[in-house]
Amino acid sequence: MLLTIPEVLNSDELAQAKEFLAKADWVDGRVTAGHQSARAKNNQQIPENHKVAKKLGEMILSALGKNALFISAALPAKVFPPLFNRYQGGQSFGTHIDNAIRQIPQTAHYIRTDLSATLFLNHPEDYEGGELVIEDNYGVHKVKLPAGHMILYPASSLHHVTQVTKGARIASFFWIQSMVRDDGKRTTLFDLDLAIQQLNKDIPEHKTIIQLTGIYHNLLRSWADV
Ligand code: NI
Repeated sequence: MLLTIPEVLNSDELAQAKEFLAKADWVDGRVTAGHQSARAKNNQQIPENHKVAKKLGEMILSALGKNALFISAALPAKVFPPLFNRYQGGQSFGTHIDNAIRQIPQTAHYIRTDLSATLFLNHPEDYEGGELVIEDNYGVHKVKLPAGHMILYPASSLHHVTQVTKGARIASFFWIQSMVRDDGKRTTLFDLDLAIQQLNKDIPEHKTIIQLTGIYHNLLRSWADV
């Protein structure tokens, strides 16, 4: 499932993010790349332990914790501390696949990357190029979103970022280990959840809502690992 989560950050949070980002140090993005992706990667990142990365990361995690659409779609078990990248002056990231397992920095903990997320931090008018291009079973999808919006996609997809030919593209990226590792099962649960919510809105007193909610939880119980 490929899903846009609109307005993960509001305009106040985006303004605060801009202020923080102005104080950041940027290093070569290959520091967090795997063996295969390091060859394709040409961008800059804020070091993982930099206080700007930590502060902004906390802001994003707290926003996600309150985002019902994100929770319903991702069924998150663990979220990787958000990282930050910048592309400018012709930089790009060639086709690659994200590592399946990642160690959470400065801990002995690992996460399985079921979902990848990119949260756009500046406006699409600020730069040219810089589309995130995701290939899945249904074709090729070009993604470039307004500031504060996020794309969620299966980490198993091949993807790349096209050259930024003007301005700078700044985004946060991270991974999610879902309670339901299989994308098809997770999508079924999400669709069922949306259908129940719609029914709840249209005919709130309908008895079937309880039955359907029961089915949702029974499926979740048999598919989830926590
Ligand atoms: Ni990637």
